[in-house]
Amino acid sequence: MSATAEPAIRVRGVTKSFKALPVLRGVDFDVAAGTVFALLGSNGAGKTTLVRILSTLLKADGGSASVHGHDVADSPEAVRESISLTGQFAAVDEVLSGRENLVLVARLRHLEQPGAIADELLARFSLTDAAHRRAGTYSGGMRRRLDIAMSLIGDPPVIVLDEPTTGLDPQTRIEVWQTVTQLAAQGTTVLLTTQYLDEAEHLADRIAILHEGTIIQNGTLAELKQLLPPATVEYVEKQPTLEEVFLALVGADARTTRKEPQ
Ligand SMILES: Nc1ncnc2c1ncn2[C@@H]1O[C@H](COP(=O)(O)OP(=O)(O)O)[C@@H](O)[C@H]1O
Ligand SMILES: [Mg+2]
Repeated sequence: MSATAEPAIRVRGVTKSFKALPVLRGVDFDVAAGTVFALLGSNGAGKTTLVRILSTLLKADGGSASVHGHDVADSPEAVRESISLTGQFAAVDEVLSGRENLVLVARLRHLEQPGAIADELLARFSLTDAAHRRAGTYSGGMRRRLDIAMSLIGDPPVIVLDEPTTGLDPQTRIEVWQTVTQLAAQGTTVLLTTQYLDEAEHLADRIAILHEGTIIQNGTLAELKQLLPPATVEYVEKQPTLEEVFLALVGADARTTRKEPQ
């Protein structure tokens, strides 16, 4: 993309506290259009708070943010038309079939030919054979694919996936990863939050680390890896993994807390 192109998402100095708890202390980053950007942070780092601000579900205390050129505070309607948020807890209605879920969302968005939209998405997400089955009978991967398909109705240029694979088994995780890769290949801008380093490493063009309310690093995987010198073991260079970079930056205590036996 050219240097002058407007970023798909721009975040500047965003702050947010819940009562006395400061969660975001001045967050800054840009997401270039058509890229996959991973916001990496431990549980409780403020990832969901930030994506809720970007989706206009929550107001920031300070700073500014824009999506597709629209300011979240001044033009929330235009922002909502440009961004789609799919969270850890799927919006799928289990009683309805996959196709009915899609048709319902298309109707809610006042689109013409909701049936045709549903059929196209079912095909794109390999759900045609299961189209008429109740979504409650779908596997975890199928439900997540349906959830992502629902969020694409109306062709939002920016899609936010909030911890799309948390709680999923490894096979389903790989299915979701493939879906994200396909979205990116079609030019959708993807903002992905994750607490999994390998997920960011695998999917993202750029990775930003959210820690204690600010972005403490933001770069490509190669740039982040350069923050640690390669270890030399008997003349063989070993590049640091993203996990090693992350732990060196945020401190080993950021690792999942495992209680020591008393
Ligand atoms: N509505 C709320 N009221 C009070 N505290 C909240 C609320 N939402 C989130 N928090 C707190 O803000 C912090 C960040 O939460 P969250 O954004 O959900 O983190 P993450 O998504 O990175 O796990 C946590 O300490 C959480 O308990
Ligand atoms: Mg969260």
